[in-house]
Amino acid sequence: MKLNWPLMENNITIEDLDKAIEFLKSMPRLTQSSNVQAFEAEWSKWLGVRFSIYVNSGASANLITMALLKHLYGSGEIIVPTLTWVSDIASVIQNGFTPVFVDINPRNLCMDDKQVITKLSKKIKAVFLTHVQGFNGLTEQLLSTLKERNIPLIEDVCESHGATFKGKKLGSFGLISNFSFYFAHHMSTIEGGMVCTNSQDIYEMIRMLRSHGMVREASSEKIKQRYARENPDLTPDFIFAFPAYNVRNTEIGAVIGLNQLKHLDENNAKRIRNLEIFLKNLDPKKYKTDFNLEGSCNYAFNLIIKKPDIKFRDKVERALRQAGVEFRRGSSGGGNQVRQPYLKGIVQDKEWEKYPETEHVHFFGYYIGNYPNLQQQKILSLCNLLNKV
Ligand SMILES: Cc1ncc(COP(=O)(O)O)c(C=O)c1O
Repeated sequence: MKLNWPLMENNITIEDLDKAIEFLKSMPRLTQSSNVQAFEAEWSKWLGVRFSIYVNSGASANLITMALLKHLYGSGEIIVPTLTWVSDIASVIQNGFTPVFVDINPRNLCMDDKQVITKLSKKIKAVFLTHVQGFNGLTEQLLSTLKERNIPLIEDVCESHGATFKGKKLGSFGLISNFSFYFAHHMSTIEGGMVCTNSQDIYEMIRMLRSHGMVREASSEKIKQRYARENPDLTPDFIFAFPAYNVRNTEIGAVIGLNQLKHLDENNAKRIRNLEIFLKNLDPKKYKTDFNLEGSCNYAFNLIIKKPDIKFRDKVERALRQAGVEFRRGSSGGGNQVRQPYLKGIVQDKEWEKYPETEHVHFFGYYIGNYPNLQQQKILSLCNLLNKV
């Protein structure tokens, strides 16, 4: 039976495109302008934070967040997960920090909070936590320990828009949080990302880091005047405070984002229901079904084979391929980051053996697309196909 099931479907709708066309017909300015500002304001309102800065990808959000930490703390160590996206580790290394890896909790695929706490030391400058595939990775104990020890939490929420902890949206807990609006995620602006914070100082610095480190990008007149005073030999239009990047996005992305945001909660409710149907109907003897779903909101169905059986795994992959179901092994980031060639020479040989839970997902975990327009019958057919393997 063919299910024809891509990783993502119809994430940008005809309504979004109509809005973009209508906007284009007014012969507007297309580079970052009033629609970017409006999208940032709406996103802040939706998330429950004071400030948001729209950028051209989630990876860019990671990059300038770590660039900011470099500016604040110089060097040191940052705790990161073994199961995450490449840019969460790359941004740490690119900014001169040493990544300290932590294995996952198999019930939510996020860093195990107890292991994070064990690894805290004077050298740790931040905990860079990924809320993996719609799951909440926060616990009371983790938040209170970080607060006590004055270690900042940075949240990567690129895979978890709308997920919550204790009723509050993920991305509103950390000093800074990052989102992605890539096509495969909960909502899309073609490409795009957001950096969010409640700190006015961080907001100003991130605005500059987004645009070449340029001081005139700050929103505060006080900051601009201070730099002008301190640099009388420079024209105020071209004062560069940081060796930074250009990671701005465009008005087109913002127009699409504004429209997408209107439907995000309604779409997320459908995704939550879909995942519940999926997990309820999977055979718990063959697949993991005991995820901690509290507050979760997932654009993916997590399929994790229970026993480390390569022959069974091959059969599952064959069945999915035959049915036209697209999947990604190792979950969204391809599994254990520590195995990737870009970390050769940075981590010890066979370092991956220290992270058995991530190792299991690396070889026996998958994600399959979960989008709002999936029909219950189709989800049941997928479960049936998987249960028959
Ligand atoms: C956890 C996480 N962080 C960052 C990113 C990077 O986002 P983008 O693809 O928008 O660069 C992704 C990507 O999909 C991700 O899953």
